[in-house]
Amino acid sequence: MLQSKGKEKTQTPVRIIEFELRYLEKICEIENSSFPEPFSNRYLADLGKLYSATFLIAERNYEAIGYIVAKTDCSRAHILSIAVENNWRRKRIGFILLQMLIIKLKSKKINEIILEVEKNNIPAKTLYERVGFKLIKEIKNYYLNGEDALAYYFKI
Ligand SMILES: CC(C)(COP(=O)(O)OP(=O)(O)OC[C@H]1O[C@@H](n2cnc3c(N)ncnc32)[C@H](O)[C@@H]1OP(=O)(O)O)[C@@H](O)C(=O)NCCC(=O)NCCS
Repeated sequence: MLQSKGKEKTQTPVRIIEFELRYLEKICEIENSSFPEPFSNRYLADLGKLYSATFLIAERNYEAIGYIVAKTDCSRAHILSIAVENNWRRKRIGFILLQMLIIKLKSKKINEIILEVEKNNIPAKTLYERVGFKLIKEIKNYYLNGEDALAYYFKI
């Protein structure tokens, strides 16, 4: 929370916007600090170019504090990454990013979403289930470190 010059307290709003290149560096920082096997900066930049409409950023004071990115084909979306900066977690940013993505996909006539999540990732699993994603299968040794994944599905 920011404090104005007077006594009155002000709160700078968090906005959800589509991908812009100026946020890439911070997105890469959040990605690197959130995952043991992060996407490379180059890959995230490519996703920003290819899927800018479904690469949503939560920003405050022109600084990214979270993001979600999905690649899409004609009827299906695949969520590739979602992360919120550590000190902004548990403030509904992830939930809002996911909801805004669903709205965006619906407007593009996309009606299915799939994703994979590490089996022991309680925060992410709880978030997806809370939004209404259904567990469809377990995928053994999905990650490079040998961890298993759970695949989830959402019908828009
Ligand atoms: C997963 C992640 C994006 C959630 O973002 P967030 O902004 O903290 O989540 P929200 O505040 O929107 O939480 C929404 C709901 O998800 C669940 N949830 C979120 N974090 C949780 C946690 N640590 N433990 C249990 N449930 C959690 C809760 O049900 C929560 O609702 P509540 O706060 O009313 O109880 C965030 O923890 C993160 O960046 N993790 C590291 C990256 C990652 O693992 N990404 C997922 C890849 S598949």
